[in-house]
Amino acid sequence: MPRGGHGSGLGHHGRLSPLNLERFQTARLRAERLSAAHLPQLQHMDRDPQVMTYLGGVRDDAGLEAYLERNLAHWDQFGYGVWVLHALQGGNFAGRAVLRHVDVDGRDEVEVGYGFLPAYWGQGLATEITHACLRIARDDVGLRSVVALAAMDNAASRKVLEKAGLRFDRQVQHVIGPHALYRIDFAPASG
Ligand SMILES: CC(C)(COP(=O)(O)OP(=O)(O)OC[C@H]1O[C@@H](n2cnc3c(N)ncnc32)[C@H](O)[C@@H]1OP(=O)(O)O)[C@@H](O)C(=O)NCCC(=O)NCCS
Repeated sequence: MPRGGHGSGLGHHGRLSPLNLERFQTARLRAERLSAAHLPQLQHMDRDPQVMTYLGGVRDDAGLEAYLERNLAHWDQFGYGVWVLHALQGGNFAGRAVLRHVDVDGRDEVEVGYGFLPAYWGQGLATEITHACLRIARDDVGLRSVVALAAMDNAASRKVLEKAGLRFDRQVQHVIGPHALYRIDFAPASG
């Protein structure tokens, strides 16, 4: 996975260099750190009822502003968060990916997540970006475990999580209703 930055973060080797995860690429996607300049793309996506079916419905302007503020602050605090995704082919905005702290039943976890515009569904892109986010979580951030939350009936998302190697843990009550909690544990680095 080619990286735009330098510095490998905390990682397995315990080096305390700063994280630089602001941009990376997969085979078909270019990911860049969320910034305030992405507001129009987020509006486009979060006003689409098809995209937001399992995410609590479309976001109004106030909801979007709060989303942006919260997720910009997450980047400042942790050095990772929401990435905005563009298709390498054609360069158009395609979706977003997430690695983010989340409270699950009172416990601090880091979740992986994703969302794409419908034109990009069904091509394996969510699976591709999830693999990349999990590698970052393990190798750059140095996490031992990552979770994901999908609405119980979000079959496509649950399939993505299973394909990416997460396993169903249990049903939990999340902000907008009952969710399937998935988890992946990373084996400790050898040597
Ligand atoms: C969920 C979402 C990210 C999936 O993206 P995607 O790029 O189409 O996902 P992938 O192509 O990597 O994989 C989807 C898998 O689910 C399967 N799938 C799609 N719709 C399905 C359905 N209704 N029921 C069962 N499986 C389904 C696909 O066949 C594919 O599996 P396969 O590779 O074995 O054929 C996309 O639909 C989306 O952005 N939805 C709106 C936002 C959202 O819900 N995000 C997740 C929040 S938890």
